[in-house]
Amino acid sequence: MTTPPLTSGILVIFGITGDLVRKKLLPALYYLAGENLLPEQFEIVGLTRRGTRVEDLLDGLQQELRERGEPADHGTFKRLGSIMRVVTMDMTRAQSFADLKATLDGIETERGTCLNRLFYLSIPPHTYGPVIDFMGDSKLGSGCQHGTADSRIMVEKPFGYDLESAQELITRIKRSFTERQIYRIDHYLAKETAQNILTFRQSNPLFQAVWGSRHISHIVVNAAEAIGIEGRASFYEPTGALRDLIQSHLLQVLTLVTMELPDKPTSANVHQEKLKLLQSIKPIKPNEVATRTVRGQYKGYRDEAENPDSITETFARIEVEIDNDRWRGVPVLVQAGKRLARKDTSIAIGFGDPAARHNIANTLVFRLQPDEGISIDLVAKKPGFNDDAERVEMTFDYHNAFGEGIHPDAYERVLMDGIRGDQTLFATSDEVLASWRIVDSIVHEWAKGGDDLIIYEPGLAPA
Ligand code: BG6
Repeated sequence: MTTPPLTSGILVIFGITGDLVRKKLLPALYYLAGENLLPEQFEIVGLTRRGTRVEDLLDGLQQELRERGEPADHGTFKRLGSIMRVVTMDMTRAQSFADLKATLDGIETERGTCLNRLFYLSIPPHTYGPVIDFMGDSKLGSGCQHGTADSRIMVEKPFGYDLESAQELITRIKRSFTERQIYRIDHYLAKETAQNILTFRQSNPLFQAVWGSRHISHIVVNAAEAIGIEGRASFYEPTGALRDLIQSHLLQVLTLVTMELPDKPTSANVHQEKLKLLQSIKPIKPNEVATRTVRGQYKGYRDEAENPDSITETFARIEVEIDNDRWRGVPVLVQAGKRLARKDTSIAIGFGDPAARHNIANTLVFRLQPDEGISIDLVAKKPGFNDDAERVEMTFDYHNAFGEGIHPDAYERVLMDGIRGDQTLFATSDEVLASWRIVDSIVHEWAKGGDDLIIYEPGLAPA
């Protein structure tokens, strides 16, 4: 894949005081600044309802780095501070967006050049629609004032709450931005091991020959987290594990494992194959929800969410089937949960006789987190006079192979790709809709009541 050139830009962050900005975006910008990877002409404009100052944001960043046990570099802080400004704005008023446009025009006039405008929506998903309408009305989607630079918009998931609302949102956004301008963020795709899946499949013919239902007995895509909702009740209550992780991150990651490999891995070809794969997954029917899904909620969640009647799932498991020649008949489990025993984001591919699911010969595991890498277990004879055999693991591990800290964090990649205009690792509107189609009836069946919701002890995933 060729890398588009780095261009200049103004990064406009809606919701600069939010949790995501503090935990992910500001650290990512700090590392990019530290590595001199930001374009020479670059400005960050943080938007907030509440008054805050650049110094407050930098203090928060410093604290975040301290919590990570990482040293803070004074020079990088200074550099980052010098290209940041905060604008207080009421996002419910049209005039605020006209004012924002005037601010951006002013920055370009100050700098004497047009800058690409990158709008990052780090605000509650239900506010995307109105904010984007205002942006369209005030011509924020039309690039710089002289028409020589682009406007791009980056949105966090979930993109809609079900198939219908996602469709409505897509239609609404398209009134102001074209598909080429919209970057639907899925930071899982920007994780190094996720990117490695296609490379691994493309470059290791040994596995290509056995990649399908004749040799693979099942696939498990797993995203277990030890953390709970971390004070994000207002986001999590209407979202739940199915929307938060499965509809977006995990179905996207599944496509990387199961899509057909394009002859040339261009962005368009990869998106085309991912879409074909998503469209070949059989949508779960309403009458299958009881047998093909499991949902749970960790004990103590309702107190954290301050909702004694909450039926929001903090654990979800679904079983899907890919209805194409390569995968037909292979069960695929996709599951995600919070407050489980430990963090484990991985894809396990069981090789063995598909008819005997429990008699797995080898398991290939892509570990997205922690200990990023790839491993496969093999059966080997134990040393000694007997013929006893044992399972042993062969592992490729990023830290051992390439050294510590040399691969960028997913959000650094997300921001860099937004800045340089590379949409490969972002979800297209068709992909988003195809994913919703798979889980739509689950969303609606689950909304009817919580009889099947399993309340689980923290650390113990529902069976
Ligand atoms: C986010 C979800 O998209 O991903 C969070 O909203 C979740 O609920 C997070 O904790 C997990 O990301 P990562 O990169 O830590 O696996």
